[in-house]
Amino acid sequence: MFKFASLLALASLIPAFVQAQQPLYAQCGGTDWTGATTCVSGATCQEVNEYYFQCLPGTASSTPATTTTPATTQPGSTTTSGTGSPTTTTTPSTDNPYTGYNVWLTPYYADEVQTAAGQISDATLKAKALKVADIPTFTWFDVVAKVPTLGTYLADAQSKQQSSGQKQLVQIVVYDLPDRDCAALASNGEFSIANDGLNKYKDYIDQIVAQVKQYPDVRVVAVIEPDSLANLVTNLNVSKCSGAQTAYKSGVVYALQQLNSVGVYMYIDAGHAGWLGWSANLSPAAELFAQIYSDAGKPSFVRGLATNVANYNALSASSPDPITQGNSNYDELHYIDALAPMLSSAGFPAHFIVDQGRSGVQDIRDQWGDWCNVKGAGFGTRPTTNTGSSLIDAIVWVKPGGECDGTSNSSATRYDAHCGQSDALQPAPEAGTWFQAYFEALVSNASPSL
Ligand SMILES: *[C@@H]1O[C@H](CO)[C@@H](O)[C@H](O)[C@H]1NC(C)=O
Ligand SMILES: *[C@@H]1O[C@H](CO)[C@@H](O)[C@H](O)[C@H]1NC(C)=O
Repeated sequence: MFKFASLLALASLIPAFVQAQQPLYAQCGGTDWTGATTCVSGATCQEVNEYYFQCLPGTASSTPATTTTPATTQPGSTTTSGTGSPTTTTTPSTDNPYTGYNVWLTPYYADEVQTAAGQISDATLKAKALKVADIPTFTWFDVVAKVPTLGTYLADAQSKQQSSGQKQLVQIVVYDLPDRDCAALASNGEFSIANDGLNKYKDYIDQIVAQVKQYPDVRVVAVIEPDSLANLVTNLNVSKCSGAQTAYKSGVVYALQQLNSVGVYMYIDAGHAGWLGWSANLSPAAELFAQIYSDAGKPSFVRGLATNVANYNALSASSPDPITQGNSNYDELHYIDALAPMLSSAGFPAHFIVDQGRSGVQDIRDQWGDWCNVKGAGFGTRPTTNTGSSLIDAIVWVKPGGECDGTSNSSATRYDAHCGQSDALQPAPEAGTWFQAYFEALVSNASPSL
């Protein structure tokens, strides 16, 4: 009964109309890519993985993927950047980190959405689709090659902050553990434990830290490693997961310590109601989160947990979906209310953010564990701090709706059978690439309506 969401590369499939030069952050190559392979001035087409080449800032001679950064200061210490940059505070706010901040909009997703809207001929649907570009989502750093773009984003947020006087909060997903996605196939990552993956992961974290450190005035909120610790709670009978246990724990501890040193507010991924919400899993999950937190030295910027990332569960369902039978925690609010006291007694901060990006429509799955491009889904409740629960800091959209969960091509290397099930929309392209038909369905099924 494993229940997990599998996750995504952050990538886009620009339509294959002829375009001489691709804009910054657009796709410019990869398996089956038929569009332009050159980028606008100031950007270079760089391989992110075999499925996805992207126009990244800079020139080829300064390939970001190979940039190494010096070791960062130890967690808990006050840090200063090299050349007269302001001091980074290491004292977190005790309040909800979202309070008083404007959530920065990623130009990358806005660009994907605007391109997608341009392909919709129905005027009403197109107008609704365009509204999605104004809704904040998280940016996934699922490969080390994308980390330099974080600096570009933080610089943009900082300049918006200066020009508008409104404090900006940038939302990121840290997602590059070695032997990633150990219980599924669609989102296998770039690092393997066998090939020094843990050290490569630490370098990936160091590169994120180096970027954040340069923009101490911009607040950063991070979701830490979707699915990883949840897999250690329920899927240790999968050999790739048991083999990854030590590396996942060390990697997450390192991420918490280092990101804490530059003041990143963190929510560790905690699966969802249909995964860790089962009564047998709640207490082992709380113990694991508390143990990792304690191993990391109780970093003060760890704020709590993120749930339902890239999944479809309601925050508060009007009635239980029949597929949830046997689990009294049939929605995220029940799950959170059940887990929070166990976390508190284990010494872990019980605050939450909940992904509702694709939770607008309920009762659409054949089984609760179905996670891949589920048919009939719609965009859900908009991001807000008005959550109705003192345990929940914010409703957020972590998964950028429209980016595919996994290919439905059963001959593809990363094919996962969940993406071929009858409740999964098909044909579906590779994970992380743009899935136009799915995006259009999310728009038209949105609830509340767009
Ligand atoms: C792991 O255990 C679960 C629960 O007992 C079971 O449903 C699943 O099939 C097992 N997986 C493997 C790979 O043995
Ligand atoms: C499915 O994947 C195989 C292997 O990569 C490829 O040869 C084939 O063209 C793909 N089929 C479709 C319909 O994309």
